[in-house]
Amino acid sequence: MKLSLELLNNLTEITSNSAIACYPYIGKNEKILADKAATDVMRDQLNKLNIKGKVVIGEGELDEAPMLYIGEEIGNGYGPEIDIAVDPVEGTNFVAKNLPGSMSVLAVAEKGNLMNAPETYMDKIATGNHIPKGSIDIDFTVEKNINIYSEITSKKNSEITVCILNRPRHNKIISELKRLNINIKFITDGDISGALLVSDKKFNVDIFMGIGGGPEGVIAAAALDSLDCNFQGRFIFKTEEDKKRAKKMGIVDLNKKYEIHEIVKGESIFCATGITSGDLMNGVIKTKDNYITETIITYNKSDLELVKKVVSLT
Ligand code: FBP
Repeated sequence: MKLSLELLNNLTEITSNSAIACYPYIGKNEKILADKAATDVMRDQLNKLNIKGKVVIGEGELDEAPMLYIGEEIGNGYGPEIDIAVDPVEGTNFVAKNLPGSMSVLAVAEKGNLMNAPETYMDKIATGNHIPKGSIDIDFTVEKNINIYSEITSKKNSEITVCILNRPRHNKIISELKRLNINIKFITDGDISGALLVSDKKFNVDIFMGIGGGPEGVIAAAALDSLDCNFQGRFIFKTEEDKKRAKKMGIVDLNKKYEIHEIVKGESIFCATGITSGDLMNGVIKTKDNYITETIITYNKSDLELVKKVVSLT
C-alpha cells in the first residue's frame, strides 16, 4: 500500500481548515480554546476520510484528552491502515499572543511505521541532507559536532548557525556555542519548525539541537525523513510515572538513541498550515470573501513544497 495523492490532498485540506478554525483566537490569550477549535475540526474531518487510522501521537492519553487521544481510532474504517500524528496547534502561546510561528500539523505513515511517542521530552539533533548520514551525533560534545560540521561544509564557526529553544535547561549548550563563536537562532516555542529550518539553505540554520517535546520530535522526524535530512532523538524520562508510561507504550530501553529510520519508516506525509506567519510559511489571511492559507508538505521524498489554498468564507 502506498500513501495516495488523494490522501495528501485531504490532509492538506484538514490542516488548512483547522488553522482557519483557530484564526478567531489569534491574540485572544485563550490557548485552550484555540487548541479545542483546531482539534474539533481536525478530528471531525479525519473521521470522514476513507482510512482505518490510529492516533499514535495526539493530544494526550485517553484520561487527559477527550479527543485525538493516543490510541483513538480515526477515519471511517474502510481505507488503508495508517498511523497518524496530530498537533492541531503547534505553538499554542504563539496563537494566544499573536506571535509568529504557530501552525496546525499532521503526519501519517502506514500502520506500524510511525513511532508511538510518550508525552515526555526528547533530546534532538538535526542537520540538512548535505551532511553525510552518521557524521553528526547526539552523543558527541557540542564542540565535536561543530568541528565535524565545519570540516564537512568548510564553514568557519562564525558562519555556522545553531537553532535552539531558549530555555534555562540549555544554558550549558548556549555558553558552549557562544565560546565557539557560533551564531544562535533562539526560538521561544515551536521546535517542529526549528528542526525543519535545517532542510533548506534559505533558512540559514545549520544545526538544530536541544530538548523539546518528544511528540514534536517524531513529527519533525517524519518531515525530515522525506527530505532525506538527518535527525536523532533520545527521550528524557524524569519521573517514575513517565517511565511507567513509556514501558506501557513498549519502550524497553529508556536510554535508547533513536535514529530517524527507527522513528519513521517507509513513506510518510507531513503537512503543516501556518496559523500565524513564521519562517516556513504565512499564517491565515482573511479577506472580504475568503481565507487564504499556506501549507508546507512533504510527500514521498519530495522537496518541501508550499501549497496555497483559498477557502470561501461561506
Ligand atoms: P505547545 O504548542 O503544545 O504549546 O508546544 C510548543 C512547544 O514549544 C513545542 O514546540 C516544544 O517541543 C515544546 O513546547 C517545548 O516544551 P517546553 O515549553 O516545556 O520547553
